[in-house]
Amino acid sequence: MSQHVAVVGAGVIGLSSALLLQRSGYAVTIIARDFPGPFETMDPTTKINYTSPWGGAHNRWVPPHPSLPASLEREHAMSLRTFDHMKSLHASHPHTAGITFLQGIEYIESPGPEYLALSTPSNPNALNLPGFRLLDASELPADGKVTWGCEYDTWCVNPMVYCSFLLRRFVHRGGRVLQRELRRPEEAFSLLASEGEPGRKIAAVVNASGTGLVPDPAMTITRGQTCLVAEECDATVTRQNADGSWTFCVPRGFEGGTIIGGTKELNNWDAKPSMEVRARLLKRFAETYPKILGGKSEMTVIRDIVGRRPTRDGGPRVEGELVSGAGFVMHAYGLGGRGYELSWGVAEAVVEGVERHIKGAESKL
Ligand SMILES: Cc1cc2nc3c(=O)[nH]c(=O)nc-3n(C[C@H](O)[C@H](O)[C@H](O)COP(=O)(O)OP(=O)(O)OC[C@H]3O[C@@H](n4cnc5c(N)ncnc54)[C@H](O)[C@@H]3O)c2cc1C
Ligand SMILES: *[C@@H]1O[C@H](CO)[C@@H](O)[C@H](O)[C@H]1NC(C)=O
Ligand SMILES: *[C@@H]1O[C@H](CO)[C@@H](O)[C@H](O)[C@H]1NC(C)=O
Repeated sequence: MSQHVAVVGAGVIGLSSALLLQRSGYAVTIIARDFPGPFETMDPTTKINYTSPWGGAHNRWVPPHPSLPASLEREHAMSLRTFDHMKSLHASHPHTAGITFLQGIEYIESPGPEYLALSTPSNPNALNLPGFRLLDASELPADGKVTWGCEYDTWCVNPMVYCSFLLRRFVHRGGRVLQRELRRPEEAFSLLASEGEPGRKIAAVVNASGTGLVPDPAMTITRGQTCLVAEECDATVTRQNADGSWTFCVPRGFEGGTIIGGTKELNNWDAKPSMEVRARLLKRFAETYPKILGGKSEMTVIRDIVGRRPTRDGGPRVEGELVSGAGFVMHAYGLGGRGYELSWGVAEAVVEGVERHIKGAESKL
């Protein structure tokens, strides 16, 4: 009989991990408080702590560099793995998976060494990014403040279309789901015994609970306010301003409109969108990329969005832990603003971690 694994969490990380565990031959149950559903009915007053609906979500490359934390190397490798996964899923399911391939554009007012190293005269595409090209001065925003820009090939997802696709696929392939709120991930070990599968032992529990379970003192959130507009855009554009603020758009595709962003506010738990912030985001984006207006004077707002990026001091935690008195817990949380773009790489690391544990446990018998 195949080994049983429980995944706590049905955000993009739990769903991706559950699907890949299933493909690797495990019997998988997802236990979560929140599941994906239509974005149009997602209510922030009850779902603010479920981050996946409120994400953009696009892939933008974050170049690793000797001047930056070494963990970015692992994250970059995960983003490349996720890019390949999105590419093949888009090819096989262009109309249902919620994935769009498009051009990514970066505008930076004061670029750090990691960006300057991306393109040098001797190495015009140092990281070998797909479709990478440095922009020349005539292609930069008219205000003249952006000093460096590039474009590359990338993808966006409509988050709830994509997550619902993963969930549907998981169930169609025999996966089980339980809607429960747990106090600790270890509870999953005993829960399944009392939920109609007596005698079925759980080999591992995956902790993909996002902002969910206390206590990890290193966990906090990064608030993000964005605005969903009806306009479509031909690219996902990101501008890093010299004052540290961000101006970006993420077309969601599939008649989901375009996200205009956005703020990054560490440890701010305010769930209410600010109208001043909305006005500033829309104005700055229109100045940066007037093409989105299509000749009109302003964008058409659908709704304001506030989300909580699950942020961990020291970076994401993707590692196994033997919890005494319970069993093996594979942690996969703290993905911050990169949950979608790293998701498939994280899922692969989860499967490797579970496999290593099971092999190790078997060799001790
Ligand atoms: C404004 C904004 C823009 C963003 N843009 C991007 C982007 O462009 N690209 C990108 O890659 N990322 C982006 N992100 C980040 C991305 O959305 C997150 O990294 C990702 O959604 C985190 O997914 P997760 O599965 O870890 O957590 P979540 O989506 O929060 O899922 C957690 C799961 O655990 C469950 N859970 C929690 N506690 C319990 C409990 N006690 N018992 C049972 N179940 C529990 C929840 O119900 C849920 O199912 C953005 C985020 C925001 C807010
Ligand atoms: C979200 O999480 C915070 C911190 O754990 C909690 O205080 C708040 O009640 C939660 N909000 C909702 C809507 O569940
Ligand atoms: C599981 O993940 C949460 C983050 O959602 C973290 O706070 C918690 O410490 C983790 N659980 C364990 C047992 O480490």
